[in-house]
Amino acid sequence: MSATAERCPVGIIGGTGLTTLSGLEITGERAVETAWGTPSAPLVEGKLGEQEVVFLSRHGNPHRIPPHEVNYRANLRALYDAGVRTVVGVNAVGGIHSEMGPAHIVVPDQIIDYTWGRPSTFFEGELDEVTHIDFTWPYDAEARQILIDAARAQGTPCSDFGVYGATQGPRLETAAEIVRMERDGCDLVGMTGMPEAVLAAELGMRYVCLGLVVNWAAGKSDHIISMEEIHEAIDKGMSGVKGMLEMSMAG
Ligand code: HPA
Repeated sequence: MSATAERCPVGIIGGTGLTTLSGLEITGERAVETAWGTPSAPLVEGKLGEQEVVFLSRHGNPHRIPPHEVNYRANLRALYDAGVRTVVGVNAVGGIHSEMGPAHIVVPDQIIDYTWGRPSTFFEGELDEVTHIDFTWPYDAEARQILIDAARAQGTPCSDFGVYGATQGPRLETAAEIVRMERDGCDLVGMTGMPEAVLAAELGMRYVCLGLVVNWAAGKSDHIISMEEIHEAIDKGMSGVKGMLEMSMAG
């Protein structure tokens, strides 16, 4: 990202609605393997403006891997091996906070993890020592600010705060679960924010989430959540997300 001194490629993990990145000037595509298995898709290498980028489709291309079956360890390790040290995770989310309705963009600053049973650490097996990484601030402050500045510069409404509640899925939540999550302090709900963020941290990579709200969370509107509503919000909001990515990489 442009304001960072580091000239390593930036990793972009695209989620629902972002299986390809149209503005990317593609220079190569590589199917890779890692010690943790196969990533969701080949790595697509290219340039966004002046910035080298490695794009990875989280759910595969075509979109076929559900959130609880994504091999997050292979994805993060593959990006690391490709030289990536800063990762932007693009995530479709449900909105809990009253200002975070469909098509709204959020750069969250905190996480509460409700996922279970997902391989969520590289530190297991035959270890020399036990490691507990610091995870007080799961998202990189500088990368967050770059995205927020990009949104402001292009006039895209964007919330610069938010607690991302990561749920197991693949089902959506009950209304009572959302009430509980709101009580816990969650502003957004999604299924892919964890363990992606912590695995990046374990590898020493900077990680930031770019969240696109695609529906009101369960019980937050007068209707049940439909795929039409989700696709409509993606159509409306994804150009802002892509614009933020392009602008934050420029220069
Ligand atoms: N809940 C969980 N994950 C989601 C949602 C939701 O409402 N919308 C998009 N991803």
